[in-house]
Amino acid sequence: MKITKAVIPVAGKGTRFLPATKQVPKEMLPILKRPMVDYVVEEAVLSGMNEIVFVISTGKESILDYFDRNLELEQYLNKNGKEELAQKVYEIGTKIEVISVRQKEQLGLGHAIACAESAIGNENFAVILGDDIVVGDNPVSSQLAKASAAFNNKSVIGVMEIDKNLTNKYGIVDGVKVDEYPSSFKMNSMVEKPAPEDAPTNLATPGRYILTPEIFKCLKEIPRGVGGEYQLTDAINMLAKEDNVYAHIFEGDRYDTGTIEGYLKATVDFALKNEETKEVMKKILKEVGK
Ligand code: G1P
Repeated sequence: MKITKAVIPVAGKGTRFLPATKQVPKEMLPILKRPMVDYVVEEAVLSGMNEIVFVISTGKESILDYFDRNLELEQYLNKNGKEELAQKVYEIGTKIEVISVRQKEQLGLGHAIACAESAIGNENFAVILGDDIVVGDNPVSSQLAKASAAFNNKSVIGVMEIDKNLTNKYGIVDGVKVDEYPSSFKMNSMVEKPAPEDAPTNLATPGRYILTPEIFKCLKEIPRGVGGEYQLTDAINMLAKEDNVYAHIFEGDRYDTGTIEGYLKATVDFALKNEETKEVMKKILKEVGK
């Protein structure tokens, strides 16, 4: 089954980046010259998912505008001999169909995904959280879609092995290793942000999921969870009681850009990998290292 839709929830308040996020959505903060959300959308597109469902809230409209055309800007650039830049600006958003749904109250990630139900309908879909950017030869959502296909189109949660004392920051998966597909587990349960002493494993999701539409029924049934919010993790845990759900350890370099440390690290690393900026970044690092 080809998965063409990706849900990207962008309704959060981004308090860790205040005061910048008082007026600018966190997802629009740049890493080099591209807003963070652009990297996440790129992952979806490279994974063959061209229908992007943004779950937005008031004040997040600039994300939708970014993926729309800006004819005035394109004309201005063309008139001023900057055709290459005009082409670049034009191309943003040409590979995707943007669908937006509103989350009217911030009641948690589970609630945000439930808001996308009418846009998804009765098909499998990806969820990609923008707080983590994962780069590598093979986009994570594509790796998970392949695993899902190998598992009879069931739900697959992308996981990574973390330091055991960080389990209270993530959804943690408990499962049994399977032989049919590499680096994969059949899920027994999933728990949101357990204390290290309560965590069943160190398999954490940085927010990459392939889900079957049955998740929407679970999202309607779960009570409020950790932090008084409706948690996607709790709905997946419920789904795993009714159907086979898998977890797959993905490959790739992951940046936790939802934190200042991860954001700075991504900025430095991406600059070092970019032809245009690598020399200047090396020079800066040398200077500040003194
Ligand atoms: C959310 C999810 C959590 C996941 C995390 C990844 O938590 O609820 O299961 O591990 O994203 O970033 P949040 O970081 O939004 O509190």
